[in-house]
Amino acid sequence: MFEQKDTEFITLSRFVLDEQKWHKEATGDLSILLSSLQVACKFVESIVRKAGLVGMLGEEGSVNVQGEGQKKLDVLANKLFIQSLKSSGCVAYMVSEENKDVIIVEPKSECDKNAKYCVAFDPIDGSSNIDTGINVGTIFGVFRMKEDAKNPEDSFLVSGNNIIVAGYCMYGSSCNLVITLGNNNVNGFTLNPSLGEFILTHPNIRTPEHGDTYSINEGKYTKWDEATKAYIDFLKLHQEGGKTYASRYIGSMVADVHRTLMSGGIFAYPVDSENTNGKLRTLYESFPMAFLCEQAGGKATTGAKRVLDIVPRSIHDRCPIFLGSKENVETVEEFFEIYSNNL
Ligand code: AHG
Ligand code: MN
Ligand code: MN
Ligand code: MN
Repeated sequence: MFEQKDTEFITLSRFVLDEQKWHKEATGDLSILLSSLQVACKFVESIVRKAGLVGMLGEEGSVNVQGEGQKKLDVLANKLFIQSLKSSGCVAYMVSEENKDVIIVEPKSECDKNAKYCVAFDPIDGSSNIDTGINVGTIFGVFRMKEDAKNPEDSFLVSGNNIIVAGYCMYGSSCNLVITLGNNNVNGFTLNPSLGEFILTHPNIRTPEHGDTYSINEGKYTKWDEATKAYIDFLKLHQEGGKTYASRYIGSMVADVHRTLMSGGIFAYPVDSENTNGKLRTLYESFPMAFLCEQAGGKATTGAKRVLDIVPRSIHDRCPIFLGSKENVETVEEFFEIYSNNL
């Protein structure tokens, strides 16, 4: 007999409105923005679910600003998020992995002139996994427009500590949307496709202090720096009380981070001799995931510094990242400390 988990049966829409009540100065704009985000997530989920049936697999035939071949789903999902966020009337600027420049939103009406939010997003994360039906997702981060902004980029080229909302939607065996508005509060919602509603299923997610899983592309081993090599070697050889570490990596950051956030351990995309700043994009992959992880009690470092202390130099800037359980990340920091002292 199916039983709705004994939560209070809160939908994401209701959750966001409840959150709004705590902020007397709230205008409701953020609630509208988040509502437009969740509509786009539901729309993308409905396409991912049947991509193989409706000709949405394979290449678009174009190359994005990252130099990556775009998948059909990258392009369609990107259009859907841009349209949905534009229609919210609350977004002034957007940065998307798939767009070279900042997307400037023309106000539709008088009241849209006060749009004060800036959204950075990765419409489909894990694109290389689309054609094989493996989990992909969407990652987003929300910033307030910078008061003295002179250029559209100014509101994005700020320290990650300015992020006010972060979340991802993972399109997998179930559709999970995980979001934080700060306050050390991270909540997970599962889409009930027959209702078309995200239902609160994972209230107050806390990342375990320590985990026995590490998630990294070991194919790059020979290209890593010495600190990363030493750390991964340590995980393989270090057997506390005979326990060994398990390696889990599917190549979609959303899925690898979701597992790490929920079960503990560490996810990493370090620098290597080909990706000298790392591969993951600071604004719409590393910042949102770092904020989520810290709000769930975990940590996120580049090895040398806290990810959220970075100030991106450009909207598609990249950075190395190690994130997950507090203790696991602190061990990484110790390795980088030792190796930086030996330089
Ligand atoms: P995207 O599909 O948005 O370009 O991101 C892909 C990223 C991220 O999802 C994943 O962690 C990483 O690329 C995997 O890279 P490798 O295939 O080099 O391991
Ligand atoms: Mn990509
Ligand atoms: Mn991505
Ligand atoms: Mn992407």
